[in-house]
Amino acid sequence: MKIDALQKAAVEVLRRNDRGTFTAPSPRQYPHLWLWDAGFTAIGWAALGDFERAYREIRAAMRGQWRNGMIPHVVFYGWPSAYFPGADIWRSDLAPEAPKDLPTSGITQPPVLAFVVWILFQHDPERQRAEAFAREAFPALQAYHRWLHATRDPDGIGLSCIVHPWESGMDNSPLWDLPLSRVPAEGLPPYQRADAHWVPEEQRPRRSDYDRFLALILHLRSHQYGESGVRSSPFRVYDVLFNALRHRSEEALLAMARALGEPSGEIEEWLERSRAAFQTWLWDRERGFFLDWDGVAGNRIPVIASGGFLALYAGLATSEQAQEMVDRYLRNPAAFAPDGGTRHLVPTVSKMEPGWEPRRYWRGPIWINLNALIAHGVARYGFHELAQEIHQHTLDLIARSGFHEYYDPRTGEGLGIGDFTWSAALLLGWELLSAQ
Ligand code: GLC
Repeated sequence: MKIDALQKAAVEVLRRNDRGTFTAPSPRQYPHLWLWDAGFTAIGWAALGDFERAYREIRAAMRGQWRNGMIPHVVFYGWPSAYFPGADIWRSDLAPEAPKDLPTSGITQPPVLAFVVWILFQHDPERQRAEAFAREAFPALQAYHRWLHATRDPDGIGLSCIVHPWESGMDNSPLWDLPLSRVPAEGLPPYQRADAHWVPEEQRPRRSDYDRFLALILHLRSHQYGESGVRSSPFRVYDVLFNALRHRSEEALLAMARALGEPSGEIEEWLERSRAAFQTWLWDRERGFFLDWDGVAGNRIPVIASGGFLALYAGLATSEQAQEMVDRYLRNPAAFAPDGGTRHLVPTVSKMEPGWEPRRYWRGPIWINLNALIAHGVARYGFHELAQEIHQHTLDLIARSGFHEYYDPRTGEGLGIGDFTWSAALLLGWELLSAQ
């Protein structure tokens, strides 16, 4: 398929999934608003020149913001639905900080909004409108990042922890196998999953993971999603992807503060602290890779997952570290590169990991958003050919299998739900995501 035809098909997916106020990631599988999806989707609308629609997407996400600054990972527009766990499980109404008139989840997701708003600001040809929107969004984004630094750094290490695997966006990654194994899942109320209705179960998280996903929600809910629930959470991980995107967003906040004439000292401090923290806590010299830090166990999680490459997107690696990660992992056929067994870039987990499963959700398949962020990450360090290759692989996957949620790195087969919004949005907005 030619690129024009692909773009036309992508526009159709976006329009079909558009609910007016927000764009559903998939009207059947994910009928509400998800935080990082909203960011990627706005990039797609902007690529089409529809900045008004892009701003509406961001506003819809920010509309769910809690009084303490948190922006939730799901805003339940269109509730009730068949989605599980829905607003009746999350019960944000029990939390004094939550919006009164709009049900949301009680956790967040990778903080992409600030850098997306900065991208929109830079590309909107109508400068007055761009500035007005940036002025509107800036205080909300700043409050969100303050919350990420204050409430989410209980160990005081300069990074933000996640207290549920869903906050990473990579729900059932092998990264969580160890930390999740410590989450007690006895005595759960009976529940019915809805996610394996449209998608074969072998492509979705296991039941044992779901039990723990639910147990963690119930733990946090019993603390009204407040600070005490974070401190006592049996799952507390400082994730590379999450914190790299936080840093990238704070680079954007700094640029925004300067453009708008707002004070920037606090943001500069954040940036300095996380730059140091990435080296102290997350860089693993022996493995030559950025690894997640398990706050409960007090050690790095020894799993090589592609989220590690996002340190490059945020400019957090030295050039030597970037070179080592590319040589030892991204270009290595035993890890992420094609080897005959796999033919496509970039599997979400290194093939050397015992937990690698090429068809199961975040345990190996290729996801388009990560491909885009990794490609721009390596480009930031001068690996332009590699960035180009990842882009080409992405186009080939979409041409072969359509806008799937994820793809089998061996065959390129589309997996999960079809007509997935961010796969379409990022085909359109790939270049806009550049980190340079
Ligand atoms: C799944 C994905 C998550 C995404 C959501 C909506 O939970 O793991 O990353 O945001 O679906 O698409």
